[in-house]
Amino acid sequence: MVATQISVLLLLVFSVRSSAFWTRMMPKMTETKLTFYMQDWETGKNPTAVPVAGTNVAGPKLLNFGTIMAIDDALTEGPNRGSKQIGRAHGIYVTSSLNGLDFHLLFSVVFTDDKYNGSSLEIQGSDRALLKQREVSVVSGTGHFRFAKGFATLETAYLDVKDLNAVIKFNITVVHLSHTGHH
Ligand SMILES: *[C@@H]1O[C@H](CO)[C@@H](O)[C@H](O)[C@H]1NC(C)=O
Ligand SMILES: *[C@@H]1O[C@H](CO)[C@@H](O)[C@H](O)[C@H]1NC(C)=O
Repeated sequence: MVATQISVLLLLVFSVRSSAFWTRMMPKMTETKLTFYMQDWETGKNPTAVPVAGTNVAGPKLLNFGTIMAIDDALTEGPNRGSKQIGRAHGIYVTSSLNGLDFHLLFSVVFTDDKYNGSSLEIQGSDRALLKQREVSVVSGTGHFRFAKGFATLETAYLDVKDLNAVIKFNITVVHLSHTGHH
């Protein structure tokens, strides 16, 4: 009798505790949409994308399978290079198709604006540059974007094939942990 009462009590205590546990642990997720322009400049006064490895060929290395570019590209609000900067794209992309027209993107979007300063998103995917629109993954994030998952649609806003400079428009849709008061 006493044993039954104790076990009922334990069960009650346990179920109250476990429901509190799950309420606490169930992540509250939020969706955020972002648009910015990636300033990918390889030539001119201040290049921010440089070839660091790949085939030893004459001419533009970018368009040769196997080339790896290191980037520190500005991310701006508008398409112009002088437009307000909201962050930087830090990382690499690799010329990843034999015909030289597909780039594997692998970089962090590091925010520097007041809203998301210090937070980041991880971009990974195949940028099939000749398509008008293409899609890459947002695989994770930090700070404001912890547990992020989503996708980015890309569109070429400006392209100078001769000088290998481009501005790419990113529309990002990402689901992440609700903001908990720290960046
Ligand atoms: C972003 O954070 C850094 C330090 O982490 C600070 O120096 C900088 O002023 C901040 N920028 C903005 C726009 O808040
Ligand atoms: C990006 O979003 C804008 C407006 O939100 C839309 O006009 C444009 O078509 C979108 N581009 C892509 C590639 O999704």
